[in-house]
Amino acid sequence: MIQLHQVSKVYDTNTPALVDISLKIDKGGFVFITGPSGAGKTTLLKLIFSAERPSKGEILVNGINIARIKPPLIPYFRRKIGVVFQDFMLIKRKTVYENVAFALDILGMKRKFVKRKVWQVLKWVGLLQKKDSLPPCLSGGEQQRVAIARAIINNPVLLLADEPTGNLDSALSIEIMKLFRAINARGTTVVIATHNKSMAEKFSENIIYLDRGHLKEFSHAQ
Ligand SMILES: Nc1ncnc2c1ncn2[C@@H]1O[C@H](COP(=O)(O)OP(=O)(O)OP(=O)(O)O)[C@@H](O)[C@H]1O
Ligand SMILES: [Mg+2]
Repeated sequence: MIQLHQVSKVYDTNTPALVDISLKIDKGGFVFITGPSGAGKTTLLKLIFSAERPSKGEILVNGINIARIKPPLIPYFRRKIGVVFQDFMLIKRKTVYENVAFALDILGMKRKFVKRKVWQVLKWVGLLQKKDSLPPCLSGGEQQRVAIARAIINNPVLLLADEPTGNLDSALSIEIMKLFRAINARGTTVVIATHNKSMAEKFSENIIYLDRGHLKEFSHAQ
């Protein structure tokens, strides 16, 4: 599903964000990326999502070499990937329903189909009763579930989440992790970046440990 071969990333600054990373994430995997602040977790997700290009190395996602992907093809590549950010990135003036429907609307899907899909996914994350609420009226955990619903509405083969529980208390964080696990059980490969090492270790045996851009360890269950 994801393969990195000797990948390095240097931003404009001289210190490299990632140094010579080689790793493989299998289809159907449930993998965490952990490490201290500045370790390169977000950078690694951005490379996989093609939001940043590697300075060196090859990255294969779904058989596509995204180190060389042509910019006009990036939106098509991303359609199969769901992303969840720490700060949710919900549109404040749109309802929960509209926030989740948005991804399908822009693909020009029929109204009736969109409605059925949105109801289904909101029900699944336990938020159907909040479908007409605006995001600022929701709790942090509810907003996070809306962001997750939006990320999975298109049945992505891969779900990337950057610190998805960074703003949540530990009980809510566990609920969100269980939701990710359920998404994984439906067949989606899930990759979650978190500085919370104990959370990662609680939920998976597949953990990528980064430290100042270096791959320290990749404990692989298989
Ligand atoms: N857009 C950018 N321009 C320049 N340097 C950057 C940029 N983004 C990240 N960096 C640098 O790259 C390194 C890795 O950053 P990254 O955001 O990937 O770390 P992280 O592990 O996600 O940290 P955190 O836990 O704080 O989110 C850091 O030294 C950071 O300062
Ligand atoms: Mg980060």
